[in-house]
Amino acid sequence: MAVQAVIMVITVSYIHVGDVLEGKHEGKKVHLRGWVHRVRKQKKMVFALLRDPSGVVQTVIKKTVVSEEEYADAEKMLVESLVTMVGVVNADSRAEGGYEVQVEKFEVLHFSEEFPITEHQSTEFLNDNRHLWMRSRKLTNVLKIRDEVFRSAREYLRNEGFYETTSPMFVSTMGEEGAELFEVEYFGKKVYLTQTSQMHLEPQLFAMEKVFILAPSFRAEKSRTRKHLTEFWHLEVEEAWCDHECNLKRQEGLISYMSHAVADNRPRELKELDVDPERLYGVKAPFDRMTYDEAIDICQKAGLKIEWGQDLRTEAEHILTDDRDKFLFVEYYPKEIKSFYMKHNEDDPRTYKNSDLLAPLGFGEMIGASERETDYQLIIDNLDRIGDDPKKYEWYLDLRKYGSVPHSGFGVGVDRLMTWMLDLEHIRDSIPFPRTVSRIYP
Ligand code: 4AD
Ligand code: MG
Repeated sequence: MAVQAVIMVITVSYIHVGDVLEGKHEGKKVHLRGWVHRVRKQKKMVFALLRDPSGVVQTVIKKTVVSEEEYADAEKMLVESLVTMVGVVNADSRAEGGYEVQVEKFEVLHFSEEFPITEHQSTEFLNDNRHLWMRSRKLTNVLKIRDEVFRSAREYLRNEGFYETTSPMFVSTMGEEGAELFEVEYFGKKVYLTQTSQMHLEPQLFAMEKVFILAPSFRAEKSRTRKHLTEFWHLEVEEAWCDHECNLKRQEGLISYMSHAVADNRPRELKELDVDPERLYGVKAPFDRMTYDEAIDICQKAGLKIEWGQDLRTEAEHILTDDRDKFLFVEYYPKEIKSFYMKHNEDDPRTYKNSDLLAPLGFGEMIGASERETDYQLIIDNLDRIGDDPKKYEWYLDLRKYGSVPHSGFGVGVDRLMTWMLDLEHIRDSIPFPRTVSRIYP
């Protein structure tokens, strides 16, 4: 890169392609920079689509306008070359986006080698080249929406008086289910990557009352489905003085807020992804509700072989939500399929005061939630029933000895929520670098 070019990059005030597409600069001379998205060469002009994070705009470099050297570079450059340019913005209905930039000055800052990704490539190939494929319009838009999902979750919770905190990823006790644990060698000892941050979040509410954490959780999921990652992003919320009912309201508030924020703040990206913002504006409290008992009844009547006490898996989720356009809470699951820390339900002692939130159209479980058991002895009884050793949970059980407070909490699968929001075919397309049973590269 020439010294002069470096200085230009630093001192000139560049605009973004999106500003051009919004019509803010029609008839004006602008400075642009970015990557060559596509290039088409004719005899006396080169058409280049210029890409930056905000969009793609057509530019035209004419032999009669730019210098000989500049034109030679334009003819030589390949897709994904890095360029800067000065040009005049014209409205042009034939161009993608409705504008074209007539280039007057032009420089290639980096000549790209031949880009491996072209049209019509297999999903496998694209995923092997994820580090490059994320420049595609689809993934760029998804990643910008992902930022809004994270931002809005934090905004909602902070506005509601929650503190954001952190918790360890190396743990010595399991949080959910033994079979899904990743073991790690830790100085000669066996420890695990955490499946949930809940166990380390609960102690923190005794200090701060309302807390949340946005971090990865790890699960050795062997299932190759469109809904499972081995490393997923988990938004976990814990709230003191909050019962089961309050917990449901909190989930409705959070999910509605996040959905509306994405619709409000990322309309252009949604449009490019072909997602109707009404899908997101339609997320409103109250969500639908049914008990686990009712859910089993509906599934049985629909012909599914399922008994009371079994978990609601993919087929059941489809039966319950395929025709639904609202989120659905299923409440009061049987104790044997849920976790020991959940609150005993006096109205039906076979169940806990818990809920799963199912997305419409068979997208599956977005949230697992419960009021937490506050009684020391009841938790011991739960552990005894499932044959687990209370000794392993000594520190966690301490919380029920020193000022045990009513509280509830839940965990949102952020990548899953995005899969529903954007109507994605597979959860891996919601995250920059997906980790699944068959993928750990790049
Ligand atoms: O229902 P889960 O297992 O609940 C818990 O871990 C609780 N300790 C959370 C809490 O109360 N703080 O997981 C919560 C959510 C699920 O509803 C799902 O959305 C997501 O995490 N999830 C996954 N997402 C992607 N890939 C996986 N393998 C997932 N496993 C769970
Ligand atoms: Mg669950």
